[in-house]
Amino acid sequence: MRLLVTGGAGFIGSHFVRTLLAGEREGLAGSSVTVLDKLTYSGNRANLQPVAEHPGLTFVEGDICDETLVDQVVPGHDAIVHFAAESHVDRSITGSKPFVVTNVLGTQTLLDAAVRHGTGRFLHVSTDEVYGSIQTGSWPEDSTLAPTSPYAASKASADLLALAYHRTHGLDVVITRCSNNYGPYQFPEKVIPLFVTNLLDGRTVPVYGDGENVRDWLHVDDHCHGVTLALTRGRAGEVYNLGGGTELTNKELTGLLLEAGGAGWDRVEYVPDRKGHDRRYSLDTTKSTRELGYAPRVPFERGLAETIRWYADNRAWWEPLRQKALVTR
Ligand SMILES: NC(=O)c1ccc[n+]([C@@H]2O[C@H](COP(=O)([O-])OP(=O)(O)OC[C@H]3O[C@@H](n4cnc5c(N)ncnc54)[C@H](O)[C@@H]3O)[C@@H](O)[C@H]2O)c1
Repeated sequence: MRLLVTGGAGFIGSHFVRTLLAGEREGLAGSSVTVLDKLTYSGNRANLQPVAEHPGLTFVEGDICDETLVDQVVPGHDAIVHFAAESHVDRSITGSKPFVVTNVLGTQTLLDAAVRHGTGRFLHVSTDEVYGSIQTGSWPEDSTLAPTSPYAASKASADLLALAYHRTHGLDVVITRCSNNYGPYQFPEKVIPLFVTNLLDGRTVPVYGDGENVRDWLHVDDHCHGVTLALTRGRAGEVYNLGGGTELTNKELTGLLLEAGGAGWDRVEYVPDRKGHDRRYSLDTTKSTRELGYAPRVPFERGLAETIRWYADNRAWWEPLRQKALVTR
């Protein structure tokens, strides 16, 4: 298959591309990849360094909102796997415009090009945050969309547009909604790499509010496994939840990271809560299990230990980025 991967220099997109070109994505062996990425603050060519010389990789630096460029890049691909987005909730609270521009208009630009050029499948990568916050139970895919942050609202808008293109134009759209990802190469503004790198440097870690917000953790490789299944087996016009099955309060997660770093609770700094902070996310993955055969495969304990080790071993990757994360905050 010839795949166009948007956002392929980011955390999740680059994992997808690296593992795909290494032959690790079932059903996609021998595929070639064009990465279209703007290289924003979170995009990084170094994330693709392990496959930089692979003959199956073409890298195009550019914006998914650039209609002329997108029109040049889209033809000749069998499918688009759309990861590109502004992805950090905190940034959407301080300035939401780039989120609307990239996540909504960028997605619309890609959808239009996919229709114009007869692209086979459009796999849109979305998030559990489109459902809002849930006290008890878990969301199935037909739950009401009730996003609370500007980030989540922009992703929900993109989901609705993608589904509308399926209904209106018959575009072969499939949407995945996943929970919180963790793993190597994650930009150190997100909680796990931020805490791990702070602890490695002997600093404190900032916990929002009372630390009781619950997140479901999904290893990036399991997410890419689910995306692959949805791409190869999903039904057009359908949404598939991809959860990790490990729900933790932020305090529980902090406890695990402190323990792994040999640090105590004196290293925790409680900071004022994030505005509109969702209390809990939880996905019902019955449909993706039944239809796609999806199940997370990386046990959280192992995935977290390997992730911590990766950051300890790869200072040269994250040290320059951490400066960038602080400056652009
Ligand atoms: N990280 C998570 O826990 C998580 C959870 C649920 C869903 N998602 C979704 O997964 C996708 C990937 O997330 P991530 O964590 O890898 O994000 P990321 O911020 O690490 O990567 C985003 C990538 O998109 C690129 N990009 C941004 N704007 C662009 C534009 N206008 N044109 C072209 N490229 C652009 C960036 O340069 C970067 O390489 C996003 O759609 C996000 O909403 C992420």
